[in-house]
Amino acid sequence: MDALGIDIGGSGIKGAPVDVRAGELTAERLRIPTPHPAEPGAVADAVARIVRHFDWTGPVGVTFPGVVVDGVVRTAVNLKGSWAGVHAGELFGGATVLNDADAAGMAEMTYGKGQGQPGVVLMLTFGTGIGSALFADGVLVPNTELGHLQLHGTDAEHRASDRAREEHGLGWHKWAERVEEYLRHVEMLFTPSLIVIGGGVSKKADKFLPHISLDTPVVPAALLNQAGIIGAARAAAQAGAHAG
Ligand code: BGC
Repeated sequence: MDALGIDIGGSGIKGAPVDVRAGELTAERLRIPTPHPAEPGAVADAVARIVRHFDWTGPVGVTFPGVVVDGVVRTAVNLKGSWAGVHAGELFGGATVLNDADAAGMAEMTYGKGQGQPGVVLMLTFGTGIGSALFADGVLVPNTELGHLQLHGTDAEHRASDRAREEHGLGWHKWAERVEEYLRHVEMLFTPSLIVIGGGVSKKADKFLPHISLDTPVVPAALLNQAGIIGAARAAAQAGAHAG
């Protein structure tokens, strides 16, 4: 079955149709810059543009960079719009909406590095913020917000996200030190058997992963930055199957 996956990020909104059985994009993705300010109406217009671009009438899944419970947004710290309480599922035309890292993690567990991994697996995405998806024997604990763990008196994502790397003018090695410190903290709290690194930086893993040493294996996401799109599409296809 095919579904359209749309990934809302702090800088871009990206979408593509996905073959959900294979976990692969079936057409080149479309990227629209995230509107500023990223108010619900403007973001909904961008989502609608992507749906129109692909002439899509099937299931649509959308990732959101904040806490989403039953389609309703609780927080969106990196979007800067008035999102709390917005029913994103309705706003996006009946789409299935879920947290971005949860979507990426589900994709990675189904088609990528997490396949068949028992025990505690943690996917962490490094982009505008730090997103987290926590799995126990393949089952997701939704909406963990581990990017907001406090380190040195501030949110971890303010020090160790990819945006922090750029804004603080850090070289890869310096940034990797911050990421390692963060990963050690998370490792201490959860004792995962595997940590998967996703988000925009996953395609540059060779620049920073060699500088990170941890007891837990740390691997880049197999689906790279497409994990969100693929995970969103998968969630939509599953929701459709349950409804039908
Ligand atoms: C948000 C998370 C999100 C992450 C990555 C954090 O600031 O609170 O919900 O998953 O950024 O976008």
